[in-house]
Amino acid sequence: MQKKRVLTGITTTGTPHLGNYVGAIRPAIAASRRADVESFYFLADYHALVKCDDPARVQQSTLEIAASWLACGLDPDRVFFYRQSDIPEIPELTWLLTCVTAKGLLNRAHAYKAAVDQNTASNEDADAGITAGLYMYPVLMSADILLFNAHSVPVGRDQVQHIEIARDIAQRFNHIYAADYFTLPEASIEENVATLPGTDGRKMSKSYNNTIPLWLSANDLKKAILGIVTDSRAPGEPKDPDTSNLFAIYQAFASADETTAMRRAFADGIAWGEAKQKLFERIDAELAPQRARYDALIARPADIEEQLHAGAQKARERSRAFIERLRWAVGVRRLTDRGSSVDAKKSADTTAALPQMKSYREADGKFYFKLESGDGATLLQSRGFGSPKDAGRLAAALVDAGDNAAALGALLVDALPADASANVATVAAALGRLKADKLAREQARQ
Ligand code: TRP
Repeated sequence: MQKKRVLTGITTTGTPHLGNYVGAIRPAIAASRRADVESFYFLADYHALVKCDDPARVQQSTLEIAASWLACGLDPDRVFFYRQSDIPEIPELTWLLTCVTAKGLLNRAHAYKAAVDQNTASNEDADAGITAGLYMYPVLMSADILLFNAHSVPVGRDQVQHIEIARDIAQRFNHIYAADYFTLPEASIEENVATLPGTDGRKMSKSYNNTIPLWLSANDLKKAILGIVTDSRAPGEPKDPDTSNLFAIYQAFASADETTAMRRAFADGIAWGEAKQKLFERIDAELAPQRARYDALIARPADIEEQLHAGAQKARERSRAFIERLRWAVGVRRLTDRGSSVDAKKSADTTAALPQMKSYREADGKFYFKLESGDGATLLQSRGFGSPKDAGRLAAALVDAGDNAAALGALLVDALPADASANVATVAAALGRLKADKLAREQARQ
């Protein structure tokens, strides 16, 4: 069964805080343990450059965010965990996408429009102080998503428009190059993950200066929690949990039973000091073991660097093959790769056993075909089809295309699973032989 691909990026400009933990890190790691998903989590350091021109901060944030995800239990063996800048196919795809992106689409992006509006309001030139990086941000983000053909992208509401832009761009590329190269991604907003309030009651966010950093020492964590703003109700006075930011934070860490008990304590007039102590204990109980891991990880940046490299290697096994197909699709090809018969003859030994096209049915009930070389190596493995007729029709069309690489391109896109690729030259050579054999046998019958 094909797994659902879930992908999200974390911009490396800040220090992780409790809001990031509750809203992104913890749910993402939980989701990554599901057997039916393939998770892609990456450090969006190229995106960081749009907002931040302090190199030390970008580097430090990358280290802290990587260490945080690992400390919280992300298992790099079961997910794709990498740094954006380690995947050269991302900027490469960004350009291919840029060339099909309507400029007007980017004019309408919220972040760019807000910057223009602000300039206009202050009687500045519309584009004053706006970089092309800010303008192109959605295209880079589309490349992140489309390179791995993600189905689902967990993001905050402010990012939903970017996913819509990615869909638009994907559709346009698919249309222009006449095949379904890209899966159309969907934004997923975790409805039951509450946004954590900050110390002042507004959403916890770096821009409000109301955050509690995730990896404070136990002592500093306690101090930060003591700084949470409350109303002035005295000990013994009943307190309303539903308007209390302290209660909301407690709830994000507590079990249902603990939450019910705290709700009762509020009604019974628990003192704010005591509620804060309980909140501290609850958060610390969850974070202490992870904090120990974090401290150990952050002390060894070389180990993290190595993990990220290994993650990039793994991700690039997908992206390298895919970008080949995309380069081929747009015509960025080797001059010798014309699918000409000259080419096909060179790469296929005509005295060797004939390649074979085999059809079969899998346990999932779907119909598949594969192309094998004369010595039994699999050159191409199809996706599953609902009916044997559909599979058969496409297999026949491939043989009919033979070594005509131009005709093969679109057929291959249809034939392959979204995340797979084939060596076009080898497949073309094998199909060329099959076609020649078929024609020869047809002639012999006449
Ligand atoms: N722009 C996203 C943010 O600021 C981060 C990001 C970069 C991202 N590339 C992505 C998120 C791809 C999801 C998918 O939150």
